[in-house]
Amino acid sequence: MEAEQRKVLDVKNLYVKIKTQNGDAILVRDINFELNRGRILGLVGESGSGKTITSMSILQLLDKKTTTIVGSVALQGRELNGLNEKEMRKIRGKDIAFIMQNPMNAFTPVFTIGHQLIETIRSHTQWSKKQARELAIEALQHVNLPNPVNILKQYPFQLSGGMLQRVMIATAACLHPAVIIADEPTTALDVNNQKKVLHHLDQIRSEYGSAILLISHDLGVISEMADEVVVMQNGKIVEQADVFQLFNKPQSDYTKRLLNARSIFHLDE
Ligand SMILES: Nc1ncnc2c1ncn2[C@@H]1O[C@H](COP(=O)(O)OP(=O)(O)O)[C@@H](O)[C@H]1O
Ligand SMILES: [Mg+2]
Repeated sequence: MEAEQRKVLDVKNLYVKIKTQNGDAILVRDINFELNRGRILGLVGESGSGKTITSMSILQLLDKKTTTIVGSVALQGRELNGLNEKEMRKIRGKDIAFIMQNPMNAFTPVFTIGHQLIETIRSHTQWSKKQARELAIEALQHVNLPNPVNILKQYPFQLSGGMLQRVMIATAACLHPAVIIADEPTTALDVNNQKKVLHHLDQIRSEYGSAILLISHDLGVISEMADEVVVMQNGKIVEQADVFQLFNKPQSDYTKRLLNARSIFHLDE
């Protein structure tokens, strides 16, 4: 495959500035990485290091009144930085999907799961309600949710966090986006559901060739899932390496400390 075809997301010299009462502050600076088809890029770093700001800036979801994004975010060769909300709505969900940490926030409480899933599908396709419903059922089956026809009739609060997270993954995956950004997708889940969710993400990657940006502060998740890893600290990338290299031969002191903290933590368990 040509290099340009493999590369589906190219983030270059990305800065996010925010206006505060005390003047401008830079939340993330000089972020550079690329995502390749069918590959998982792990993004790690302590809480507050800028992982979510980075993902929200790629998706153009930051408040335009208070933040400025500088640099380039190219999705399959198309520049996203600066696109208006109407254009981004066509792209989000279809070409670049988003899985958030807290699945409750991703659904509207007053509509059924079926209504929301079917409307998402229809807003990006020319399909009839019936066709969209069939795809929705298929997508739910794909993440091993039992009795999908019944799930479509439920309201978000009627499902457990683990089930909702799997519905969100089904929603994100059903239009086979080129890129999926998963921001701490398993943090709110118990160990059993964490495993399921990670398994589904991996399945989506291998079946549809989606590239995944997997954000986590959990190095165990990253080591298991990622092909390559970016380490962030204080809004900057401090190290970027192949997953084996990162865990066996970390270069930056910060990465070494992260890895050490993890082994100490594991001894305590
Ligand atoms: N809306 C905001 N206004 C001001 N500062 C923010 C805002 N959102 C996040 N920050 C700051 O930006 C930094 C990065 O946050 P975030 O990207 O959420 O970190 P992470 O996801 O790695 O935990 C933090 O210092 C946080 O306090
Ligand atoms: Mg975060």
